[in-house]
Amino acid sequence: MKDAAPQTVYLSDYKPFGWRVEDVSLTFRLAPEATRILSRIRFAPDPAAPAQDFFLHGEDVSLIRATIDGAEVTPEITPQGLRCAVPEGAFTWEAEVEIAPASNTALEGLYMSGGMYCTQCEAEGFRKITYYPDRPDVMATFSVRIESDLPVLLSNGNPTGSGDGWAEWHDPWPKPAYLFALVTGDLRNHPDTFTTRSGKEVALNIWVRPGDEGKCAWGMEALKKSMTWDEEVHGREYDLDVFNIVAVDDFNMGAMENKGLNIFNSAAVLASPETATDANFERIESIIAHEYFHNWTGNRITCRDWFQLCLKEGLTVFRDQQFTSDLRSAAVKRIEDVAQLRARQFPEDQGPLAHPVRPESFQEINNFYTATVYEKGAEVIGMLKRLVGDEAYAKALDLYFDRHDGDAATIEDWLRVFEDATGRDLSQFKRWYSQAGTPRLSVEEAWDDGTYTLTFTQVTPPTPGQPDKAPQVIPIAVGLLSPNGDEAVPTRMLEMTEGKQSFAFEGLSARPVPSILRGFSAPVVLERDVPAEERAFLLAHDADPFNRWDSSRSLAREALIAMIRDGAEPDATWIDALGRVLRDETLDPAFRALMLGLPTQAELAQVLHEKGVTPDPDAICNSTEAMADAMAKRFEPMLDDLAAQAQVDAPYAPDAEQSGKRSLGGAVLALRTRLDGGAAARAQFAAADNMTLQLSALTCLIRAGEARAELDAFHDQWQGDRLVMDKWFGLQIAAADPAEAPDRAKALTQHPAFDWKNPNRFRAVLGALAMNHAGFHHKTGAGYRLLADWLLRLDPLNPQTTARMCSAFQTWRRYDTGRQAMMKEQLERIAAKDGLSRDTSEMVGRILS
Ligand code: ARG
Ligand code: ZN
Repeated sequence: MKDAAPQTVYLSDYKPFGWRVEDVSLTFRLAPEATRILSRIRFAPDPAAPAQDFFLHGEDVSLIRATIDGAEVTPEITPQGLRCAVPEGAFTWEAEVEIAPASNTALEGLYMSGGMYCTQCEAEGFRKITYYPDRPDVMATFSVRIESDLPVLLSNGNPTGSGDGWAEWHDPWPKPAYLFALVTGDLRNHPDTFTTRSGKEVALNIWVRPGDEGKCAWGMEALKKSMTWDEEVHGREYDLDVFNIVAVDDFNMGAMENKGLNIFNSAAVLASPETATDANFERIESIIAHEYFHNWTGNRITCRDWFQLCLKEGLTVFRDQQFTSDLRSAAVKRIEDVAQLRARQFPEDQGPLAHPVRPESFQEINNFYTATVYEKGAEVIGMLKRLVGDEAYAKALDLYFDRHDGDAATIEDWLRVFEDATGRDLSQFKRWYSQAGTPRLSVEEAWDDGTYTLTFTQVTPPTPGQPDKAPQVIPIAVGLLSPNGDEAVPTRMLEMTEGKQSFAFEGLSARPVPSILRGFSAPVVLERDVPAEERAFLLAHDADPFNRWDSSRSLAREALIAMIRDGAEPDATWIDALGRVLRDETLDPAFRALMLGLPTQAELAQVLHEKGVTPDPDAICNSTEAMADAMAKRFEPMLDDLAAQAQVDAPYAPDAEQSGKRSLGGAVLALRTRLDGGAAARAQFAAADNMTLQLSALTCLIRAGEARAELDAFHDQWQGDRLVMDKWFGLQIAAADPAEAPDRAKALTQHPAFDWKNPNRFRAVLGALAMNHAGFHHKTGAGYRLLADWLLRLDPLNPQTTARMCSAFQTWRRYDTGRQAMMKEQLERIAAKDGLSRDTSEMVGRILS
């Protein structure tokens, strides 16, 4: 159990452990209620660090016996671990402990899922397996013996022997305990091989529960593409004889990069055309890549302490984003990533949970696996690359791999590599790691006799614990268009370092139209009152696809805000300008589908908040509906043409080209459904032979309130498939009429298949409710109550998933006083609960503060 007064851990308190661990041997005698673990660990004093108290982490483990150099010892046991007197020089520690994986519902440490044993040790789960210095700067080689009757026995590294009821593994690469993994079960294998470019043959396996064998091919292709990409782009090869991936149904996060044994949430790896959408396929490809890329950025070079989490996560997200842009469409990928960043990271960065990319304190590190650490962390690396240029970036990465291979490194190490490789001073740039909050960038322009001047001002609003901010280095990509729409000045990277700074462009023959922050060159809010005609001009002519999309997005946002605030009519000028882009057949269908998407209701709430306006969820929802209706009416004459261009005639493949067409088709069907009452969607649903078409049709029908029969048919067709049933649960809440969403969600929590202890199913229902903006914020407070009820119920079993889902309440202060009071009441009700987990209590405390 957790202690009553949670401790805060500070970056500034970092101290090395004091000993080195030379070698670890573990024996697992697996049994659901009484697993025995024998450990044999060789400790030697660390010459670089003064010895202090010998403390080993350990939580929820029973010590059966312990010896030092063979002699029995009696350590002092605390709820967090044990303390013991130890000899002065090197010594061998041996211990036997007992744990109960079958009663581990937190899914952290060693637990059971559908009859299999599996582990999740990042960040601090290894201490629930045995006593150990569970900190990332302690790296050791591991030998593991597993004893179990189950047929497949896996751990990290290479297999070294096996027999009836046992298997042994050895991992030659020193690693921290958070990368330890063990999996045992009745599993089926999807095997393949990969030959590295130096000619080493690697056995690849994806292990799944019986029945899921047909859903592994795509993950395997993605793995091989990832291995090739890291060789070609970064010269990084794989370094073991085998690479194993396992799919697990009960998992708190997406996946985990354990050395040589990646463990995946089954939703993040299993796919077939009938059961997974194009978006699922793309996400799986990127998560496989992400975990594989961690082998170098995370495993070979790990983090000194958990404050450095962005060192591996920001970099690895950046790498998986580049991989996807190389394989698919760079423009489409950038737009998708920025839309995600604005939807998930901006609210965090501008609310009570704001924290720097490198936090300086925490109570529970699991609460810091956030959009800020991951996605803003990746943006920071993107900025670094933009500032130093592609070539210098490649050189710096080579130096990073050379210099720090085998290290537990810090952000200081990372930045020093860039300083040494480029000769730049990055001390000001480092503020991106220490200052929280989204900078706001405002722009003034001046035109004088052939010289065009842009003057930028940056302000970062206060965030918790950080009232005053210093100016940051902001790379601002700017291009200038001449009045006829040509590129007058191609993209130039302006490097802003001051609070207010001007940049002049000379020798122009006419006043240009600026395209600012091309490619979203920095994670900031650009505040510029651009006349609608200028945005429409950029929408028609900008050579930068991101800004072209963003011009349209801004016009849509502004039109919607005028509707929400002043009851304006849908902006016909924007709709017409958009129509001209949609008709342009030279444009990628995927890009045109993105252009057709309206800002989400949560994004509109965020933008209203940025403008100092209290968002009204019902008005936001109604305006969005009215806008979509107006688009449908205006675009009606071209829907047939667009649908024809979206037609795929080849056999199903989830590649960029086909997915792009289907997403355009989905957007067209959504408009069509507003005109035909669902006839086309019903026909598509009936004819669909892949999940993308089936689900896009079902979504349209649910939105139209016409989906009863199809929801039942879908249920009957897919009730045997856990992952598809998650979609069935989630979609009918996410797409429900907001007035009905809380009741819908409540009814589904009573459905016999609502297995609330499974995180995917729990999120499918309660997470979907939080995603239905106007439904969650229903004026009765029913959405808030339902979510709080379930969070209170889940917390004692699974603190991690509970704590993460509390963030649905993070924006509570921006709504009207009635809604604020109702959300506060639920937060306080959660906070007041006896025995609340450290995870949830930290989150609720921060949200309320
Ligand atoms: N390192 C994993 C990834 O980014 C995430 C694991 C996080 N798990 C956790 N319980 N905090 O792929
Ligand atoms: Zn990661």
